[in-house]
Amino acid sequence: MKKIAVLTSGGDAPGMNAAVRAVVRKAIYNNVEVYGIFQGYQGLVNDEIEKLELGSVGDTIQRGGTFLYSARCPEFKEASVRQKGIENLKKRGIEGLVVIGGDGSYRGAQRISEECKEIQTIGVPGTIDNDINGTDFTIGFDTALNTIIESVDKIRDTASSHARTFIIEVMGRDCGDLALWAGMSVGAETIIVPEMSVDIREIAERIESGIKRGKKHSIIIVAEGCMSGQACADELLKYINVDARVSVLGHIQRGGSPTGNDRVLASRLGGFAVDLLLNGETAQGVGIKDNQLVSTPFDDIFTANDHKFNHKMYELTKELSI
Ligand code: F6P
Repeated sequence: MKKIAVLTSGGDAPGMNAAVRAVVRKAIYNNVEVYGIFQGYQGLVNDEIEKLELGSVGDTIQRGGTFLYSARCPEFKEASVRQKGIENLKKRGIEGLVVIGGDGSYRGAQRISEECKEIQTIGVPGTIDNDINGTDFTIGFDTALNTIIESVDKIRDTASSHARTFIIEVMGRDCGDLALWAGMSVGAETIIVPEMSVDIREIAERIESGIKRGKKHSIIIVAEGCMSGQACADELLKYINVDARVSVLGHIQRGGSPTGNDRVLASRLGGFAVDLLLNGETAQGVGIKDNQLVSTPFDDIFTANDHKFNHKMYELTKELSI
């Protein structure tokens, strides 16, 4: 393999730059040319492709976002659109593609490897949601988690001063991991996630008994994939009369300088993706399990359900917040 390309796709995640850097440096170290595709699959189709050098990724490891830019490209589901992208790779002699993104981005990579046998594809999990099979952690999750913790710690100060109940909506379209880990980290009284049924009456009773015991404030973390913070507040106020406020953290969770954990994870996974390409592997997603680098065929990533919600952790948060 003499030439590979790399793109970032879907919602951006802190650490994507560190992953691109690892792909570029590891490839060049192995005498392989690297091309950066700008704007994700959209840029692949529009031929926004440039050769990257060692210096192209200098001063990027600490930066949030992605210097390759990212986009969601629903048109890439159409075979004729994909064909344009494949032609743009082929005309440069590119034989390997690293796609950094989420599940949707992996599906595009799988199609490319099915439709063009000369192009190997490897997926690197980059999303704050931590919702990809084949890995314990995705790039960006740890940074987003720490952003939530910092924000909620600040909210707790004012919640305490005013004896208020705060409902904090965090990201996580289909996955409650951000809510669960953040909830445990900040000592939230209640965590609401799509994986567990919600009983607002029971939540109201818990808040009420806490107030009776002298608790001055309550923190509820709700994953957007389950319900909005406002919907949660509206429901809650049907059962108890508390001074409640809603805070939607929003896209602040997607930005910021990546944490050490994310930089290391991104570097390891990016380097491993290049190893796999050089070994002739294709149609696989890389990941980390029990701190070991692993690869899983895309087909298994799409069908397996190995990234399971941690019910024990969820139960523990309940026990710790009585
Ligand atoms: O990338 C994942 C994610 O951040 C989800 O948590 C969130 O629901 C979604 O992206 C938001 O997407 P957009 O930035 O396109 O509004």
